[in-house]
Amino acid sequence: MGKKLLLKNDHIPYIHKLSVYREHGGYSVLEKTLKTMTPDAVVEEVKKSGLRGRGGAGFPTGLKWSFLAKPEGVARYLVCNADESEPGTFKDRYLMERHPHLLIEGMIAASFALGANTSYIYIRGEYFYVARILEQAVAEAYEAGILGQNILGTGYNLDLHVQIGAGAYICGEETALLESLEGKRGNPRIKPPFPAIEGLYGCPTVVNNVETIMAVVPILELSGDEYAKIGLGKSAGTKLISASGHINNPGVYEIEMGITVEDFIYSQEYCGGIKGGRKLKAVVAGGSSVPILPADLILKTANGEPRLMTYESLGEGGFISGTMMGSGGFIVMDEDTSIVKNLYTFARFYHHESCGQCSPCREGTGWMEKIIGKILDGHGTLQDIDLLWDIQSKIEGKTICPLGEAAAWPVAAAIRHFRSEFEEYVTKPDSIKDIKHYYRLQN
Ligand SMILES: Cc1cc2nc3c(=O)[nH]c(=O)nc-3n(C[C@H](O)[C@H](O)[C@H](O)COP(=O)(O)O)c2cc1C
Repeated sequence: MGKKLLLKNDHIPYIHKLSVYREHGGYSVLEKTLKTMTPDAVVEEVKKSGLRGRGGAGFPTGLKWSFLAKPEGVARYLVCNADESEPGTFKDRYLMERHPHLLIEGMIAASFALGANTSYIYIRGEYFYVARILEQAVAEAYEAGILGQNILGTGYNLDLHVQIGAGAYICGEETALLESLEGKRGNPRIKPPFPAIEGLYGCPTVVNNVETIMAVVPILELSGDEYAKIGLGKSAGTKLISASGHINNPGVYEIEMGITVEDFIYSQEYCGGIKGGRKLKAVVAGGSSVPILPADLILKTANGEPRLMTYESLGEGGFISGTMMGSGGFIVMDEDTSIVKNLYTFARFYHHESCGQCSPCREGTGWMEKIIGKILDGHGTLQDIDLLWDIQSKIEGKTICPLGEAAAWPVAAAIRHFRSEFEEYVTKPDSIKDIKHYYRLQN
């Protein structure tokens, strides 16, 4: 069995309740931290741990915390990003549903480190039932003197609010999230200024993913140095992976970073192999935004090395032959999967979710959906494939926020690795029959 840090108590019934959480050592790390450490010492431990943000970009958390501006007399905020809308990603939902107090413990420790006295959990609208679980846990914590004034008798004060979004993918982008939290339309802000300088209500703010904040608890329990020994190199610690698609055991897994992709897909401990004993065709390893890789390149790098579940190994080869860890949404596709159909689903999503602020994204996502739909519908031409390539290349790097890249990368990777499949849709009427049926169902 691999190392478990965030899910170590996953087997315990009612662990979402405060009494059970405390029976199993819950909030003891927080108590020790508040009583024996300074905020700067907590930041130092997180730096030493090598923890990287689990929201997608993998930015070092301790470093991000150390950028937080500290002007005299100005409030600072910690905001937990629980918007989790990236297709293929559902690990934060699982974590919050089952371990709300671990998140609250992490929120208090992180808020203490950052000097925040008011913090927020911003949760996606569709997770309203998870928000209820969080709200109950927050109420329990207030009742027990773990939130509010003079937490656990230490003199530290923190108010924690759960804010439900209205169900927009863009509100997962940290500055759009802050706009939404302020009660405005969730349009991303132009950066700089970054949230660490001017965030919520114009004050210095850190935005961190649910899993990132939870990981602070085991870091403080073990020490930063010990946490850094778990995992592999710059991919320290464990990572939650949402595994879905054509596998025998879909679900949420906590892996120690450094296991091979092959082991993750085929071992009984994790995905348990491809359904029906079929062949692996492709994997989207980090949520819908990251480049899809064909079976040979996801199992081995272009140099023939086994591909590992680490930020570095998944990224090996750049976008020519590699991909990204992203949010850990691991979507497995068997030999019968149509890459073009799958891409159409993603393209529809990005078109629907573009906030419309930047023309390359607003117009480009629409055109990409239209052209892929046209190809699927049997009316495409070979020039359309080139046009699709051209459009995606004109979105990347030309928008305020990375939703543009998130929409462009899947298109680029699908054409790069599966161009012949697009060509088949254009040139072979046999497959079109099946396509039209699919397209009708979707519209
Ligand atoms: C369109 C878009 C959607 C995003 N959605 C999420 C999300 O649902 N959850 C999340 O943690 N980060 C999301 N991010 C990344 C956040 O902007 C931000 O980088 C992250 O919350 C930082 O947390 P971390 O440092 O702990 O990874 C999204 C980014 C973009 C561009």
